[in-house]
Amino acid sequence: MTMKKLIAGNWKMNGGLAANEVLLRALLAQIGAPAADVAVCAPAPYLAQLQSLLQGGPVAWGSQDVSAHEQGAYTGEVSVAMLRDFGCRYAIVGHSERRQYHGETDAVVAAKAQRALAGGVTPIVCVGEMLAEREAGQTEAVVKRQLAAVIHAVAHCTSEIVVAYEPVWAIGTGKTATPEQAQQVHAVLRAQLAAATAHPERVRILYGGSMNAANAASLLAQPDIDGGLIGGASLKAPDFLQIVAAAH
Ligand code: 13P
Repeated sequence: MTMKKLIAGNWKMNGGLAANEVLLRALLAQIGAPAADVAVCAPAPYLAQLQSLLQGGPVAWGSQDVSAHEQGAYTGEVSVAMLRDFGCRYAIVGHSERRQYHGETDAVVAAKAQRALAGGVTPIVCVGEMLAEREAGQTEAVVKRQLAAVIHAVAHCTSEIVVAYEPVWAIGTGKTATPEQAQQVHAVLRAQLAAATAHPERVRILYGGSMNAANAASLLAQPDIDGGLIGGASLKAPDFLQIVAAAH
């Protein structure tokens, strides 16, 4: 059985009640019955809005982060139980912006992934090298180290995660990895998953980093690219819909 591809939008810290409603209504009006699974990941204050507008439809939703802790004195954090209260299916964990600007280590990212899974939310685990790491020939070592921490933490649940390969130099820069560059890393990640789970083909490995309506089809045609994690282009309904249409 081949898995459906997954196209997930990461709105990052963008949007507002009015703009979200316009975007979501445009998506719902035109998405039809997509061949791929589709989701949008919004800032936490808008999860209730997503739940009320998207419930029962073809677009799932999720958060951009989740606390590594279950509950308690963690000011500013959002727990997986809270995400569940608002119907989230997914939580992005370990996005490079969280690693870079919020000091998230491999261990923290692994704990978040584990907490999400335990709470019934699918973690979209982001891995990816910085430009200097690529130039130093460290790409494979970096992504394997990042994924290994998560595999170690989630153990027998590894087949339930989603992985997103997001080369940091491609995020928000308009510099996409070529399909061949991306496929090469995806194959490495698939092999790593194969050593950890009996069903590595069940783990969707998304590509993220300046994916857009023009380059989506060639990226999604690669054998180990099972979907996309879309930043900028997910904020424009026509662009996001074209990427969804390219995923089959
Ligand atoms: P862009 O698509 O804006 O490059 O962002 C990618 C990303 O970081 C998705 O999580």
